[in-house]
Amino acid sequence: MKATKNDEINILGIESSCDDTSAAIISNGVILSNIVANQKVHEEYGGVVPELASRAHQKNIIPVVDLAIKRAGISKTDISAVAFTRGPGLLGSLLVGTSFAKGFSLASGIPLIEVNHLEAHVLAIFIREKEEEYSYPDFPFLCLLVSGGNSQIILVRNYFDMVIIGQTIDDAAGEAFDKCAKVMGLPYPGGPHVEKLAKKGDPLRFKFAKPRIAGLDYSFSGLKTSFLYFLRDNLKENKNFIEENKADLCASLQLTIVDILINKLKKAARQTGIREITIAGGVSANLKLRHSLEANADKYDWNIYIPKFEYTMDNAAMIAMTGYFKYLERKFTGYDVVPFARTQL
Ligand code: KG4
Repeated sequence: MKATKNDEINILGIESSCDDTSAAIISNGVILSNIVANQKVHEEYGGVVPELASRAHQKNIIPVVDLAIKRAGISKTDISAVAFTRGPGLLGSLLVGTSFAKGFSLASGIPLIEVNHLEAHVLAIFIREKEEEYSYPDFPFLCLLVSGGNSQIILVRNYFDMVIIGQTIDDAAGEAFDKCAKVMGLPYPGGPHVEKLAKKGDPLRFKFAKPRIAGLDYSFSGLKTSFLYFLRDNLKENKNFIEENKADLCASLQLTIVDILINKLKKAARQTGIREITIAGGVSANLKLRHSLEANADKYDWNIYIPKFEYTMDNAAMIAMTGYFKYLERKFTGYDVVPFARTQL
């Protein structure tokens, strides 16, 4: 094991599962740097183009890691282990991060730690920015993980003991935001644009059907289709329908998605008797979702824990944080490791 000055455990985290190249340094559980290079190249295609994403990762990874180490104020030789996203994600993108991490680990003689991207989203709530008292969720807690690829309710019994108790049977919540935004002519990714426009709109103006799915599972493909048909029918009457009603459309869509997400979370809390609740993933940046969670926390006496915006999106800080917990338990990875496009927790 590498001994660093003052017994610091410095973890370099690498995230390259989709279209953001990110590197971060966590020192004894405290974040020192978190660099994210977004790939603008996908905007004109209305979605991520896997081949272009891998190429951009290849170009970005060295400067991004370099900057993360510089910003952290440490040197390469102070790093105790390198943690990387093994999956799920785009295979070509994951290969760039995985290969880089293997090379870095071999060249520096430090352990390699594989991280499940979904587990990392959940554990992002433990990221600290300073050496001070933080309030963390007690185990067991429920995490609503909502991103472009996932909508899940996860029962978290411990750092590495998680069970999915509800999940989408088709599209994810982020996909619903993105696809509905696309038909309104908004740029990709659509979620933040919908949220911005929704601020000026009436959320009760239009009603969209909510799915009736058993148990704790979600479904968003019906909403997407009904939104599309609703626009198509109204455009027949008025070709400016979208332009004239964009803010109300966004507000009504956002409210529908948030209600669907929160209703199942309430059910999960009722069924499990758990009142410790967290959120994670790109969609958890949504303020309407955050406010709805706060309102329900008051009503049902939940203790809620909401991550900072920068740790909700894909980022390497959460990979380094998870890597830190694994480092403490000596959960290291061999060099024969290969990435997974699809994994469960
Ligand atoms: O976790 P994430 O960064 O990437 C993965 O899916 O892995 O999540 C991206 C998703 C996109 O669908 C994006 O539209 C959505 O998160 N998103 C939002 C907001 N910010 C990002 N959705 C609604 N409101 C937001 N403010």
